[in-house]
Amino acid sequence: MSKDKVILGFETSCDETAIAIMRGEELLVNTISSQVDIHEKFGGVVPEVASRAHAEMIRNIFHSSLNSANLQISDIDSVATTDGPGLVGSLVVGYNFAKSIAWSIDKPLYTVDHMVGHLAAPLIENPNMEPPFLTLLVSGGHTQIVLVEKWGDYKLMGTTIDDAAGEAFDKLSRFCGFGFPGGPAIQRIAESGNPSKINLPRPKTKHEYNYSFSGLKTAATNFLKNIDPDDKITRADFAASYQEAIVDSLMINFTKAVKETGVKNISGGGGVMANSRLREKMNILANDNNLEIFLPSPRLSTDNAAMICVAAQNDLITNDLKENDVRLSSIIK
Ligand code: KG4
Ligand code: ZN
Repeated sequence: MSKDKVILGFETSCDETAIAIMRGEELLVNTISSQVDIHEKFGGVVPEVASRAHAEMIRNIFHSSLNSANLQISDIDSVATTDGPGLVGSLVVGYNFAKSIAWSIDKPLYTVDHMVGHLAAPLIENPNMEPPFLTLLVSGGHTQIVLVEKWGDYKLMGTTIDDAAGEAFDKLSRFCGFGFPGGPAIQRIAESGNPSKINLPRPKTKHEYNYSFSGLKTAATNFLKNIDPDDKITRADFAASYQEAIVDSLMINFTKAVKETGVKNISGGGGVMANSRLREKMNILANDNNLEIFLPSPRLSTDNAAMICVAAQNDLITNDLKENDVRLSSIIK
């Protein structure tokens, strides 16, 4: 794809209606309309409510994004959209809207895997990032260590055998009434806490690079059920200790994989990569081992459509990671 062309991207796999427009490497618009207020009262994303909200909002967001970029629909050279994995009803809204736009202007439609979008996200701010690199992808549904030997050549070194890292934040936050989504809520509360106050496990799995978070969540909830008031544990100490256990667990396997592969470049992505403690530890790992590090800024770590644009621009469309999730492009022709 020619680099000065205008690309319009859609990402609606969960509870953000996101639209981005890029001209070559320049990000013209990055609209992210969150449904947090709608789902907050349920303590989690309700799929039917999410797809309905996408359907209600997408048209207005599309027009306001075009206006902000000072463009007409005829200025668009190509369209890109997430085709999975995600909530099917939500994906369908963005996918069909994107497909209709592409059809109406007779321009190509690129369908991008959501996790490949996260993997490509550092390219938005660092267009020169090149493989080989090792990336840590941590979202609400996935936890993956991926070795990118060449663009398009992805080796899944580790994944979670139960909950994803984001789920571990979200579920505990719901249990404690800390807020939704759980990751940012726990990070905020953890700021004034002592991360070594409570001794929580760093779960191991049989496979050295795989993750498991459900035991950690159970250990944390059991701790709360049996808490001794004399221990004077604050909410902040509890949140900081829990956050530290997740971050440590992520870093233990990732560090091992860095050493094993001998890569010189590392990166990351997905909503949990917005976490300041995790970013700090990723940077320490890079500094201590003289590695180049490419992290998308926090706003581009969580779901956005700019990552879908850069993935399509760089022909990073299909996914070898195959985790049995739905891909709309194989269903809706
Ligand atoms: O990538 P993402 O935006 O959506 C999915 O593809 O799932 O990731 C969402 C996840 C949620 O579990 C959310 O709690 C978590 O990312 N998250 C964070 C932070 N910001 C978002 N987790 C920890 N710290 C954060 N600052
Ligand atoms: Zn995501």
